[in-house]
Amino acid sequence: MELKWNLMDRETASQVRGIALFKSTCDYWNKIWDFQAKPDDVLISSYPKAGTTWLQEIVDMIHNDGDVEKTRRAPINIRMPFIERINSRYVGLDQANAMPSPRFLKTHLPVQLLPPSFWKENCKIIYVARNIKDNMVSYFHFQRMHKGFPDPGSWEEYFETFLEGKGLWGSWYDHVKRWWEAKDTYPILYLFYEDIKKHPRREIEKVMEFLGKNLDEKVLDKIVYYTSFNVMKNNPMSNYTFEPLMNHSVSPFMRKGVIGDWKTHFTVAQNERCNEDYREKMADTMLSFSMEY
Ligand code: A3P
Repeated sequence: MELKWNLMDRETASQVRGIALFKSTCDYWNKIWDFQAKPDDVLISSYPKAGTTWLQEIVDMIHNDGDVEKTRRAPINIRMPFIERINSRYVGLDQANAMPSPRFLKTHLPVQLLPPSFWKENCKIIYVARNIKDNMVSYFHFQRMHKGFPDPGSWEEYFETFLEGKGLWGSWYDHVKRWWEAKDTYPILYLFYEDIKKHPRREIEKVMEFLGKNLDEKVLDKIVYYTSFNVMKNNPMSNYTFEPLMNHSVSPFMRKGVIGDWKTHFTVAQNERCNEDYREKMADTMLSFSMEY
């Protein structure tokens, strides 16, 4: 595919069926929609900044039986193609198509935009969700530091844009709720960032079982250690220091990795506004999140 923009350009957004996506993604939408999944593909899905990379590293460690050298064979975005992402250096679709099976793939697409072959092939999907407040804060800092993303504006502006669901990949509410519903019909393991943070070993075991693996206690301990925040922060294959579009001096990709950082960002008024919006938009679901450690 021919790529048309400079490495350092901030990209613009466009829309597919009312969901904001990178213009590059929209331009290639028909190809993305027609992507052919294979029955043994495993898809890692999330709203941006919910802990995708963390889960990717966990899955890769499990798949490689805790072999650290193997999981450090390449940067995370090469190990697991991001199917709808197209930038100046790589095309997620092409990467995925060139990959041998079993393939581990990444997406941030909402349920209704997932290429239908994933449903048809009944692929295993692991979804990770994060509470709205921390998710919003993390996304704000990410857009500040990632030169490919639209400028997030001020925190105040961003706060409103986020609640209105106008950001890239659409509304947080719709995303987490529709994936939650989908898990009743398809083989989806639905995980929460907060659970992995509080009970990493228990959640890693869930992933292991879902992938049909059986690793011994020592290997599990090793995976818990190598996927902990500080180790991943210092791992050049998972901390995104390999990504030239990211400026880690503005805000590191591996920023804080905690539950409850929203408290250092939300004003009292913003917290009330968010709680009210949340009550209204989450009234039709049983899905619930913990917002504190
Ligand atoms: P913060 O910005 O709150 O620190 P994604 O991979 O979906 O882009 O999510 C990135 C967020 O997950 C960042 O959150 C990052 O620090 C956090 N994260 C990544 N690896 C983590 C780990 N091992 N433990 C806890 N948080 C992690």
